[in-house]
Amino acid sequence: MLMLSNATAHYHPLSQSACATNAVENFVDDSEEYALSTRIHAGNHGRLMMLSISTALLLIITIIQALCLSSARASHEGVLSYTGLNSARNIERLGSVPTPYMAENETEAAQAWSAIEPGHGVVALDPQWAAINGLPATKAHPINSDKVVYIIEAYHAIHCLKVIRLHYSALMDELGMDWPVEHDMHCFDTLRQHIMCQADDTLLSTTGHRDAGMNQTRMCRDWDALRQWATEHTACYHDTVGIHNDARFERCDGGEDGLPRNSLLELS
Ligand SMILES: *[C@@H]1O[C@H](CO)[C@@H](O)[C@H](O)[C@H]1NC(C)=O
Ligand SMILES: *[C@@H]1O[C@H](CO)[C@@H](O)[C@H](O)[C@H]1NC(C)=O
Repeated sequence: MLMLSNATAHYHPLSQSACATNAVENFVDDSEEYALSTRIHAGNHGRLMMLSISTALLLIITIIQALCLSSARASHEGVLSYTGLNSARNIERLGSVPTPYMAENETEAAQAWSAIEPGHGVVALDPQWAAINGLPATKAHPINSDKVVYIIEAYHAIHCLKVIRLHYSALMDELGMDWPVEHDMHCFDTLRQHIMCQADDTLLSTTGHRDAGMNQTRMCRDWDALRQWATEHTACYHDTVGIHNDARFERCDGGEDGLPRNSLLELS
Protein backbone atom coordinates (compact mmCIF):
# COMPACT_ATOMS: atom_id res chain seq x y z
CA MET A 1 0.00 0.00 0.00
CA LEU A 2 1.21 3.42 -0.88
CA MET A 3 1.63 5.43 2.29
CA LEU A 4 2.36 9.09 2.00
CA SER A 5 1.91 11.18 5.07
CA ASN A 6 0.39 14.64 4.86
CA ALA A 7 -1.37 13.70 1.65
CA THR A 8 -4.28 16.01 1.04
CA ALA A 9 -7.14 15.00 -1.20
CA HIS A 10 -8.38 17.71 -3.49
CA TYR A 11 -10.77 16.11 -5.90
CA HIS A 12 -11.10 17.51 -9.36
CA PRO A 13 -13.83 15.36 -10.84
CA LEU A 14 -12.65 13.87 -14.10
CA SER A 15 -14.96 14.54 -17.00
CA GLN A 16 -17.06 11.58 -17.98
CA SER A 17 -15.64 9.33 -20.67
CA ALA A 18 -17.07 9.63 -24.17
CA CYS A 19 -18.66 6.24 -23.61
CA ALA A 20 -20.53 7.32 -20.53
CA THR A 21 -21.76 10.47 -22.24
CA ASN A 22 -22.89 8.79 -25.44
CA ALA A 23 -24.48 5.69 -24.03
CA VAL A 24 -27.93 7.19 -23.80
CA GLU A 25 -30.81 4.92 -23.02
CA ASN A 26 -31.61 2.50 -25.79
CA PHE A 27 -35.31 3.10 -26.10
CA VAL A 28 -34.71 6.77 -26.93
CA ASP A 29 -32.77 5.71 -30.02
CA ASP A 30 -35.28 3.06 -31.03
CA SER A 31 -37.95 5.75 -31.33
CA GLU A 32 -35.56 7.88 -33.47
CA GLU A 33 -35.02 4.96 -35.81
CA TYR A 34 -38.75 4.50 -36.07
CA ALA A 35 -39.24 8.18 -36.95
CA LEU A 36 -36.50 7.85 -39.59
CA SER A 37 -38.06 4.83 -41.27
CA THR A 38 -41.45 6.56 -41.54
CA ARG A 39 -39.83 9.62 -43.11
CA ILE A 40 -38.10 7.51 -45.78
CA HIS A 41 -41.45 6.82 -47.45
CA ALA A 42 -42.18 10.53 -47.82
CA GLY A 43 -38.70 11.28 -49.18
CA ASN A 44 -37.44 13.48 -52.05
CA HIS A 45 -33.79 13.95 -53.13
CA GLY A 46 -32.87 16.60 -50.58
CA ARG A 47 -34.55 14.67 -47.87
CA LEU A 48 -32.87 11.48 -49.00
CA MET A 49 -29.49 13.19 -48.71
CA MET A 50 -30.36 14.35 -45.20
CA LEU A 51 -31.59 10.89 -44.41
CA SER A 52 -28.37 9.28 -45.64
CA ILE A 53 -26.37 11.60 -43.43
CA SER A 54 -28.69 11.00 -40.49
CA THR A 55 -28.57 7.28 -41.09
CA ALA A 56 -24.77 7.32 -41.20
CA LEU A 57 -24.73 9.35 -38.00
CA LEU A 58 -27.18 7.01 -36.34
CA LEU A 59 -25.07 4.05 -37.42
CA ILE A 60 -21.95 5.64 -35.95
CA ILE A 61 -23.78 6.42 -32.70
CA THR A 62 -25.11 2.87 -32.59
CA ILE A 63 -21.62 1.45 -33.10
CA ILE A 64 -20.19 3.71 -30.41
CA GLN A 65 -22.94 2.58 -28.08
CA ALA A 66 -22.30 -1.05 -28.89
CA LEU A 67 -18.60 -0.51 -28.21
CA CYS A 68 -19.48 1.15 -24.96
CA LEU A 69 -21.61 -1.85 -24.01
CA SER A 70 -24.80 0.09 -23.64
CA SER A 71 -26.40 -2.64 -21.55
CA ALA A 72 -24.94 -0.72 -18.64
CA ARG A 73 -27.03 2.26 -17.78
CA ALA A 74 -25.23 5.53 -18.24
CA SER A 75 -25.16 8.12 -15.52
CA HIS A 76 -27.26 11.14 -16.20
CA GLU A 77 -25.54 14.36 -15.34
CA GLY A 78 -25.19 14.57 -11.57
CA VAL A 79 -27.19 11.43 -10.90
CA LEU A 80 -26.02 7.95 -9.93
CA SER A 81 -26.79 5.23 -12.47
CA TYR A 82 -29.32 3.16 -10.61
CA THR A 83 -30.58 4.73 -7.43
CA GLY A 84 -30.92 8.18 -8.98
CA LEU A 85 -29.16 9.62 -5.94
CA ASN A 86 -27.04 12.71 -6.38
CA SER A 87 -23.64 11.67 -7.81
CA ALA A 88 -21.80 14.86 -6.90
CA ARG A 89 -19.10 14.59 -4.27
CA ASN A 90 -20.78 17.21 -2.14
CA ILE A 91 -20.83 15.59 1.29
CA GLU A 92 -17.89 16.27 3.57
CA ARG A 93 -16.72 13.21 5.46
CA LEU A 94 -13.64 13.04 7.62
CA GLY A 95 -11.43 10.09 6.75
CA SER A 96 -9.37 9.21 9.76
CA VAL A 97 -7.39 6.79 11.86
CA PRO A 98 -7.67 5.35 14.39
CA THR A 99 -11.25 4.10 14.38
CA PRO A 100 -12.96 1.33 16.37
CA TYR A 101 -12.45 -0.86 13.29
CA MET A 102 -8.71 -0.82 13.84
CA ALA A 103 -8.62 -0.80 17.65
CA GLU A 104 -5.42 -2.19 19.10
CA ASN A 105 -7.52 -4.58 21.15
CA GLU A 106 -8.45 -7.10 18.46
CA THR A 107 -11.50 -8.31 20.41
CA GLU A 108 -12.94 -4.82 20.24
CA ALA A 109 -11.97 -4.31 16.60
CA ALA A 110 -13.53 -7.66 15.68
CA GLN A 111 -16.74 -6.60 17.43
CA ALA A 112 -16.91 -3.43 15.37
CA TRP A 113 -16.47 -5.39 12.13
CA SER A 114 -18.89 -8.07 13.21
CA ALA A 115 -21.60 -5.45 13.73
CA ILE A 116 -21.49 -4.55 10.00
CA GLU A 117 -24.41 -6.09 8.07
CA PRO A 118 -23.53 -6.23 4.34
CA GLY A 119 -26.85 -8.01 3.72
CA HIS A 120 -28.47 -4.61 4.00
CA GLY A 121 -27.23 -3.97 0.45
CA VAL A 122 -29.15 -6.89 -1.07
CA VAL A 123 -32.27 -5.39 -2.61
CA ALA A 124 -35.52 -6.77 -4.05
CA LEU A 125 -36.57 -4.95 -7.23
CA ASP A 126 -39.26 -5.00 -9.83
CA PRO A 127 -38.11 -7.17 -12.81
CA GLN A 128 -39.57 -4.72 -15.37
CA TRP A 129 -37.62 -1.86 -13.82
CA ALA A 130 -34.48 -4.00 -13.94
CA ALA A 131 -35.05 -4.81 -17.63
CA ILE A 132 -35.66 -1.15 -18.57
CA ASN A 133 -32.43 -0.26 -16.81
CA GLY A 134 -30.46 -2.85 -18.77
CA LEU A 135 -29.63 -5.02 -15.79
CA PRO A 136 -28.68 -8.63 -16.48
CA ALA A 137 -30.87 -11.52 -15.38
CA THR A 138 -30.54 -12.32 -11.72
CA LYS A 139 -31.89 -14.49 -8.96
CA ALA A 140 -35.61 -14.37 -8.23
CA HIS A 141 -36.54 -13.46 -4.68
CA PRO A 142 -37.10 -16.82 -2.97
CA ILE A 143 -40.13 -15.60 -1.00
CA ASN A 144 -41.56 -12.65 -2.94
CA SER A 145 -41.70 -14.06 -6.49
CA ASP A 146 -42.77 -10.65 -7.88
CA LYS A 147 -39.26 -9.37 -7.21
CA VAL A 148 -35.70 -10.07 -8.35
CA VAL A 149 -32.60 -9.73 -6.22
CA TYR A 150 -29.58 -7.50 -6.87
CA ILE A 151 -26.56 -6.64 -4.71
CA ILE A 152 -25.40 -3.05 -4.37
CA GLU A 153 -21.75 -2.92 -5.40
CA ALA A 154 -20.58 -0.95 -2.36
CA TYR A 155 -22.12 -3.46 0.05
CA HIS A 156 -20.64 -6.35 -1.88
CA ALA A 157 -17.19 -4.79 -1.52
CA ILE A 158 -17.78 -4.32 2.22
CA HIS A 159 -18.87 -7.96 2.45
CA CYS A 160 -15.65 -9.13 0.75
CA LEU A 161 -13.52 -6.90 2.98
CA LYS A 162 -15.27 -8.18 6.10
CA VAL A 163 -14.75 -11.83 5.13
CA ILE A 164 -11.10 -11.31 4.25
CA ARG A 165 -10.45 -9.52 7.53
CA LEU A 166 -12.16 -12.27 9.50
CA HIS A 167 -9.95 -14.90 7.86
CA TYR A 168 -6.88 -12.72 8.31
CA SER A 169 -7.58 -12.47 12.06
CA ALA A 170 -8.03 -16.24 12.30
CA LEU A 171 -4.63 -16.72 10.65
CA MET A 172 -3.12 -14.12 12.98
CA ASP A 173 -4.26 -16.13 15.98
CA GLU A 174 -2.39 -19.20 14.77
CA LEU A 175 0.67 -17.84 13.05
CA GLY A 176 3.47 -15.72 14.34
CA MET A 177 3.27 -12.55 12.27
CA ASP A 178 6.58 -11.08 11.22
CA TRP A 179 5.18 -8.07 9.41
CA PRO A 180 3.61 -4.93 10.85
CA VAL A 181 0.05 -6.05 11.50
CA GLU A 182 -0.94 -2.46 12.34
CA HIS A 183 -0.35 -1.48 8.74
CA ASP A 184 -2.63 -4.24 7.48
CA MET A 185 -5.32 -3.22 9.96
CA HIS A 186 -4.93 0.34 8.76
CA CYS A 187 -5.48 -0.92 5.20
CA PHE A 188 -8.62 -2.88 6.04
CA ASP A 189 -10.16 0.19 7.57
CA THR A 190 -8.90 2.53 4.87
CA LEU A 191 -10.63 0.34 2.30
CA ARG A 192 -13.84 0.34 4.35
CA GLN A 193 -13.79 4.13 4.48
CA HIS A 194 -13.01 4.30 0.77
CA ILE A 195 -15.92 2.03 -0.14
CA MET A 196 -18.30 4.05 2.00
CA CYS A 197 -17.05 7.31 0.48
CA GLN A 198 -17.60 6.01 -3.07
CA ALA A 199 -21.04 4.54 -2.21
CA ASP A 200 -21.13 2.75 -5.59
CA ASP A 201 -24.79 2.03 -6.32
CA THR A 202 -24.24 -0.40 -9.22
CA LEU A 203 -26.72 -3.26 -8.93
CA LEU A 204 -24.98 -6.61 -9.26
CA SER A 205 -26.79 -9.65 -10.60
CA THR A 206 -26.33 -13.01 -8.96
CA THR A 207 -27.49 -16.60 -9.08
CA GLY A 208 -26.58 -16.81 -5.42
CA HIS A 209 -23.42 -18.80 -6.11
CA ARG A 210 -20.44 -16.47 -5.64
CA ASP A 211 -20.96 -14.72 -8.95
CA ALA A 212 -22.08 -11.23 -7.91
CA GLY A 213 -21.66 -8.95 -10.92
CA MET A 214 -19.82 -11.57 -12.94
CA ASN A 215 -19.80 -10.84 -16.69
CA GLN A 216 -21.84 -7.73 -15.98
CA THR A 217 -20.95 -4.44 -17.61
CA ARG A 218 -20.90 -1.52 -15.23
CA MET A 219 -20.34 2.19 -15.58
CA CYS A 220 -17.00 3.21 -14.14
CA ARG A 221 -14.95 6.30 -13.66
CA ASP A 222 -12.11 6.50 -16.18
CA TRP A 223 -9.08 4.77 -14.68
CA ASP A 224 -7.03 5.40 -17.84
CA ALA A 225 -7.62 9.13 -17.48
CA LEU A 226 -6.62 8.92 -13.82
CA ARG A 227 -3.43 7.01 -14.68
CA GLN A 228 -2.60 9.63 -17.30
CA TRP A 229 -3.12 12.47 -14.84
CA ALA A 230 -0.89 10.69 -12.32
CA THR A 231 1.76 10.23 -15.00
CA GLU A 232 1.69 13.93 -15.80
CA HIS A 233 2.20 14.75 -12.12
CA THR A 234 4.41 11.85 -11.08
CA ALA A 235 6.55 12.05 -7.95
CA CYS A 236 8.65 9.11 -9.19
CA TYR A 237 7.79 7.20 -6.02
CA HIS A 238 8.44 3.46 -5.89
CA ASP A 239 6.27 1.60 -3.38
CA THR A 240 8.66 -0.78 -1.64
CA VAL A 241 9.54 -1.88 1.86
CA GLY A 242 12.80 -1.97 3.75
CA ILE A 243 14.16 1.43 2.79
CA HIS A 244 13.51 4.85 4.24
CA ASN A 245 10.43 6.56 2.85
CA ASP A 246 12.40 9.45 1.31
CA ALA A 247 14.65 7.02 -0.52
CA ARG A 248 11.67 5.69 -2.42
CA PHE A 249 11.43 8.85 -4.53
CA GLU A 250 14.08 7.76 -6.95
CA ARG A 251 12.47 5.58 -9.55
CA CYS A 252 10.04 6.75 -12.22
CA ASP A 253 7.71 4.19 -13.73
CA GLY A 254 7.51 5.48 -17.30
CA GLY A 255 3.76 6.00 -17.03
CA GLU A 256 2.98 2.38 -16.16
CA ASP A 257 0.91 1.37 -13.15
CA GLY A 258 0.84 -2.31 -14.08
CA LEU A 259 -2.96 -2.32 -14.26
CA PRO A 260 -5.12 -3.21 -17.28
CA ARG A 261 -5.81 -0.48 -19.83
CA ASN A 262 -9.29 0.22 -21.19
CA SER A 263 -10.52 -2.66 -19.08
CA LEU A 264 -10.90 -3.88 -15.52
CA LEU A 265 -9.76 -7.35 -16.46
CA GLU A 266 -6.80 -8.09 -18.66
CA LEU A 267 -3.36 -6.65 -19.14
CA SER A 268 -3.11 -5.85 -22.84
C1 LIG B 1 -9.88 -6.34 24.97
O1 LIG B 1 -11.24 -5.95 25.01
C2 LIG B 1 -12.06 -6.91 25.66
C3 LIG B 1 -13.50 -6.45 25.48
O2 LIG B 1 -13.65 -5.08 25.79
C4 LIG B 1 -11.64 -7.03 27.11
O3 LIG B 1 -12.44 -8.00 27.76
C5 LIG B 1 -10.17 -7.46 27.15
O4 LIG B 1 -9.71 -7.48 28.49
C6 LIG B 1 -9.31 -6.52 26.35
N1 LIG B 1 -7.96 -7.08 26.24
C7 LIG B 1 -6.89 -6.39 26.59
C8 LIG B 1 -5.58 -7.07 26.40
O5 LIG B 1 -6.94 -5.23 26.97
C1 LIG C 1 -18.86 -15.47 -17.63
O1 LIG C 1 -18.32 -15.58 -18.93
C2 LIG C 1 -17.41 -16.64 -19.09
C3 LIG C 1 -16.80 -16.53 -20.48
O2 LIG C 1 -17.78 -16.26 -21.45
C4 LIG C 1 -18.15 -17.97 -18.88
O3 LIG C 1 -17.26 -19.04 -19.00
C5 LIG C 1 -18.76 -17.96 -17.48
O4 LIG C 1 -19.55 -19.13 -17.28
C6 LIG C 1 -19.63 -16.74 -17.27
N1 LIG C 1 -20.06 -16.71 -15.87
C7 LIG C 1 -21.28 -16.35 -15.50
C8 LIG C 1 -21.56 -16.40 -14.05
O5 LIG C 1 -22.12 -15.95 -16.28
